[in-house]
Order: sequence, then C-alpha cells, then structure tokens
Amino acid sequence: MGIYSKYIFPRLMDFVMSSGQMSKVRAAVLSGVSGDVFEIGVGTGLNLPHYPKHVQHLTTADPNAGMSKLARNRIAESGIQVTHYTVGGESLPCKDESFDCVVCTWTLCSIPNVEQALRELHRILRPEGKLHFVEHGLADDEGVRRWQHRLTPLQKVVSDGCHFNRDMRAIIQAQRFRLERIQNYYLHKVPRFGGYLYQGVACKESL
Ligand SMILES: C[S@@+](CC[C@H](N)C(=O)[O-])C[C@H]1O[C@@H](n2cnc3c(N)ncnc32)[C@H](O)[C@@H]1O
Repeated sequence: MGIYSKYIFPRLMDFVMSSGQMSKVRAAVLSGVSGDVFEIGVGTGLNLPHYPKHVQHLTTADPNAGMSKLARNRIAESGIQVTHYTVGGESLPCKDESFDCVVCTWTLCSIPNVEQALRELHRILRPEGKLHFVEHGLADDEGVRRWQHRLTPLQKVVSDGCHFNRDMRAIIQAQRFRLERIQNYYLHKVPRFGGYLYQGVACKESL
C-alpha cells in the first residue's frame, strides 16, 4: 500500500465525508440495525457515533490500515466493543451465517471485486439477515452518467479505487439480495456525478 493510500487519502476522505448532511444519512441507515452487526469498509469509523444504543459490539473489516488508525478515537468514544479485521471484503475471516445485519456505507464503489465481496456478505449473513446500505453510483440522468463514465478513471486514482459509475441496484441484486426498500436521490451541494445515492435495505435470499 502506497503512502498516499495509507497516510493522505484517509485524512482527505475523513474530512470530505464527515459533513452534517452525510451524518444524517448515516443515522438513517443505521437506525434499523440490531443483533450481531458487521460493517464492511469501516474506514475512519464515521458511522460509529450513529449506531443505536443497543449495538454494543461490532465486527468490522477494511484493508487500509491507515483508515483503522484514524478510527481508534471514534471507537474509544463510541463505547462499542469493536473486533476489527484489516482485510478486504472479498475474503472475510468470519463463519457462515454469523451476523444479523451487514452495514455498508459508501464502500461498494471502492472494492475491486465487488461481486465477490457481496457473495461474502451473503455468506456471513443469517438466513433472515439484512444488508443496510447507502452507496453513491450510476445516476438516472443520461448527462450525469456520461460525466460519471468520463471521470471514473481519474476518480480511481484520486480516491483510491472509487468508481462513480457502478449501478449499485444491479450489483446488489445480482448476488442474491432482494431489495426490501431502496430510494435514489442526489445529495445537496455535491456535484451530481458524485452525489447520486442508493439508500436502502436488502434481504438475503436463500439458494
Ligand atoms: C469512501 S471510503 C468510505 C468509508 C466508510 N464506509 C464511510 O462511510 O465513511 C471507502 C472505504 O472502502 C474501503 N475499501 C477499499 N477496498 C476495500 C475492500 N476490498 N474491502 C472492503 N473495504 C474496502 C476503503 O479502505 C475505505 O475505507
């Protein structure tokens, strides 16, 4: 892992993604989680202050050790006991069917093999388990989509592998998740190519 990814990008990402608007979205996504919870791509721990009080323990994964270093203070302040794995979501050191909920916020955009990661999330969820997510991705407007395709090669370099142009609805549904609810909207005061959100809950479908 390079110096930019480990030391510079985590600070940049933490600054950009800690806005009040995004905090409200985080709180809304997390309001429905309970039981044994796993968070993929935990980053610098920006979700930690928004977990409901009944979540006392959390299992997390993120391959970037620079992110986890910045997450330490938020973990301590949250009072949540965190078991963290510094690994990518494509291969998780967790037992089959061991979680009730998986949380995924602004992470599927950055995972190199996102299909494999979703298969892993499906594997570790219990039969009634749910994926609670908010992701940015491919917009509904053709003009915005064109810019998303143009800018993704640059975005991948600047934002450590992040894609603007992933169709999150299709990606989630393709890995045996049934969408219980989903809403698409643009964040305010964020360029439309980066601010088109997919927010919702998906249920694990069995074989
Ligand atoms: C834009 S940041 C979002 C961080 C956090 N989820 C949030 O909402 O603040 C994307 C995160 O995905 C993580 N990531 C990158 N590749 C990954 C992979 N293969 N598996 C899991 N997470 C990954 C990055 O390290 C980073 O923490």
